[in-house]
Amino acid sequence: MKISKRLENVATLIDNDSSIIDVGCDHALLDIYLALNKNIKKIIASDNKKGPLLKAKENISFYNLENVIKTKLGDGLDTIEYDIDTIVITGMGGNNIINILEKGNLSNINSLILSPQSEIPEVRKYLMNKNYIIEKELIVKDKKKYYFIIKFIKGNISYNEKELLFGPYLLKNRNDIFYEYLNEEIVKMNSVLRKVPDNKDIIKYIEMIDEIKKY
Ligand SMILES: C[S@@+](CC[C@H](N)C(=O)[O-])C[C@H]1O[C@@H](n2cnc3c(N)ncnc32)[C@H](O)[C@@H]1O
Repeated sequence: MKISKRLENVATLIDNDSSIIDVGCDHALLDIYLALNKNIKKIIASDNKKGPLLKAKENISFYNLENVIKTKLGDGLDTIEYDIDTIVITGMGGNNIINILEKGNLSNINSLILSPQSEIPEVRKYLMNKNYIIEKELIVKDKKKYYFIIKFIKGNISYNEKELLFGPYLLKNRNDIFYEYLNEEIVKMNSVLRKVPDNKDIIKYIEMIDEIKKY
């Protein structure tokens, strides 16, 4: 089966042998792809809305995977089971992701694969304060949009402001897409600056990007 480049990249960060809950599974295409292509011990596809979950069930049954993927209706991590060690949440705003994690219990969770569509630095900071570190992060361009896909594992670290803003892993492992993203951020921020010329936060942000591009 074919899934989007974004979801294919999410799948690369999920370890074989893990037991996952995909919160906000919608169509469950990621879960079906994982069931067909990786050795995942257990998969829960969960959503808080009936419509998406119905679509998920139809897709799962199309691939005859009803015995492999368990579907559950419920808010956030309410649907988690005791043996789940990996949380996957993609395609949601960062604040929504933080709210979901804040209401749940992370004590059995070894890794989280998150792809927030907004408030990305806030998500990095939230999990740093919950004793997780970023093991790997991907920046993917799919249909002209940039996506950040972050794998957190247990650990203690203190990231600085620049690392929280741009991702410590991405800063150390730069690729062309990362530089392309930085250039687009500069263009975007310069157009904001033309409207509010003395916005100190934006000036500082642009200076940081210029600095990153130099070294
Ligand atoms: C834009 S879709 C993303 C689907 C898929 N994860 C992806 O990346 O393609 C977001 C999904 O999250 C679900 N959702 C939003 N808030 C949720 C919550 N608090 N608990 C469970 N599901 C939620 C929505 O119903 C929707 O199906």
